[in-house]
Amino acid sequence: MGIERMAVIGAGQMGSGIAQVAAQAGITVVLADASADLARRALERLGATLAKLVEKGKLGAAERDAVLGRIRPATRLEDCAGADLAIEAILENQAAKTELFRKLDALLPAHAILASNTSSISITALAAATRRPGQFVGMHFMNPPPVMQLVEIIRGLQTSDATYDAVVALAKRFGKTTVTSKDSPGFIVNRILIPLLNEACFALQEGLASPEDIDTAVKLGLNHPMGPLTLADFVGLDTCLYIAEVLHRELGDDKYRPAPLLRNYVAAGWLGRKTGRGFYAYP
Ligand code: CAA
Ligand code: NAD
Repeated sequence: MGIERMAVIGAGQMGSGIAQVAAQAGITVVLADASADLARRALERLGATLAKLVEKGKLGAAERDAVLGRIRPATRLEDCAGADLAIEAILENQAAKTELFRKLDALLPAHAILASNTSSISITALAAATRRPGQFVGMHFMNPPPVMQLVEIIRGLQTSDATYDAVVALAKRFGKTTVTSKDSPGFIVNRILIPLLNEACFALQEGLASPEDIDTAVKLGLNHPMGPLTLADFVGLDTCLYIAEVLHRELGDDKYRPAPLLRNYVAAGWLGRKTGRGFYAYP
């Protein structure tokens, strides 16, 4: 089955980036968000991103207009009804995702695939909320989706070969490289990344070094593009905390316990770049 019409639900940093990637591959996208303001702002941000690519000579002006023309913002889930594939990118919360997938299952055509961009939550459990667990899969893009090469594909217990093949082919069409993970908390990337970011929070909490020195140590000492505290701010401290909680709860090992400092930052609403303050300030 060809995928020509997509719905992306959640127009935050991941959803808007996934919509851009799909539209650049020629796919028509409905970009839906519960908040009208956020859906509109996502499209404005996309316009600014594409304008920069035009300035740099990486994209023609006509192509930019075509890409923007393929993305339709929406606030009503009903606008997603015609999609061949829906990718969910709302907050990292199992109850919220389950409720959304129940609605999408009732709304989308029988052939449609449901995919989650979840960072950590069980694909099998999310699929169980629908009547199409065979057509349910994890499609985990990395942040920022237009730039990062990897898409992690997660097979739930009931994901069919046809569904798996269709999303691997789609990721290739997007120019991405895929890896396949079993359905285990945090999959491959976040099983490894989140303990690193969480450990940096513990190090800061214990006063081991300043945020700048922790980041410089990892950036220059390990050749990472961003230090762990900068990266946590980039991902979103709420998202980092939710993922750490899933790892801790589902794997049942205290080595995954979230740092109290991380909990406090989230409680204070210091979520990183998206709120203008996290470990660093983003005026
Ligand atoms: N569309 C297309 N191209 C874009 C773009 C977009 N939306 N945004 C940026 N680019 C391009 C730029 O044009 C630029 O290209 P050139 O070098 O050819 O000019 C290139 O991408 C780099 O952009 P910038 O110069 O703006 O930024 P940078 O060099 O500082 O790199 C970064 C930014 C790619 C984010 C880099 O800092 C980085 O790799 N950081 C680490 C990111 C990372 O680890 N992500 C994974 C997070 S974990 C995750 O995602 C999983 C999870 O579940 C939490
Ligand atoms: P975000 O906070 O930037 O955006 C989430 C968006 O979802 C918001 O615009 C919000 O209004 C919307 N939303 C929330 N509930 C909704 C609902 N019921 N219906 C419609 N819209 C709703 O979050 P994000 O960083 O884009 O993360 C989204 C998902 O992608 C999460 O599951 C996260 O774990 C995953 N993810 C995040 C990253 C990252 O680095 N941030 C990387 C890979 C995967």
